[in-house]
Amino acid sequence: MSAEAVLQNIRTRRVTRYYTDQPVPREHLMAVLEAGRWAPSGGNRRLHRFIVVQDPVTIRLLNAVTPGMLGVPTALVVICIDWAKVAQIGCKPHHLGVYIDVGTGAENMLLSAHALGLGAGPVTSFSKAGVSMILNLPEWLTPEMMVCLGYPAPHQPFGRTLPRRSTRLDDLVCWEGFPGHS
Ligand SMILES: Cc1cc2nc3c(=O)[nH]c(=O)nc-3n(C[C@H](O)[C@H](O)[C@H](O)COP(=O)(O)O)c2cc1C
Repeated sequence: MSAEAVLQNIRTRRVTRYYTDQPVPREHLMAVLEAGRWAPSGGNRRLHRFIVVQDPVTIRLLNAVTPGMLGVPTALVVICIDWAKVAQIGCKPHHLGVYIDVGTGAENMLLSAHALGLGAGPVTSFSKAGVSMILNLPEWLTPEMMVCLGYPAPHQPFGRTLPRRSTRLDDLVCWEGFPGHS
């Protein structure tokens, strides 16, 4: 893949919040999970578990405890932190890398889904207790982020129709330190 193709994939990805009923093909799901697996991980510690959900009833139940999930995806991945592994390797629970790795895995999944022609959306607004109960998670596994997957509905009432984020590169980037703080 050319550099331009990679950059184009990054530029054109937008969050999907509403989905059709068309299921995600197994090979696409596997490719998205593989992309998550290849994400960078602080200290190469790999302290996560990916819980995949495709059962429509379970997805509906999750939707009920997830205000941030506006539509109903046909598949989703719940990225969890495995606190047993965290303790096992002596990593401090408040170590930021544990949480940053949730984001690196999610971003790889989002970009790979987009490259495969799927819609995808990250969701963190959910009841952790509710999700844990529905998915029968042990107490050492906490759900941190969902990556919803599916085929985008033609109409995305909220989000995709908004103008692209307004941050200009000049407002985001400082070169060689903060200006005026020499
Ligand atoms: C940490 C994080 C949490 C998010 N949680 C939600 C959520 O709960 N529900 C939702 O619809 N979108 C959620 N989003 C998606 C953002 O709203 C979206 O990425 C942002 O509006 C920019 O749009 P874009 O991804 O299309 O560029 C989340 C994104 C991130 C990075």
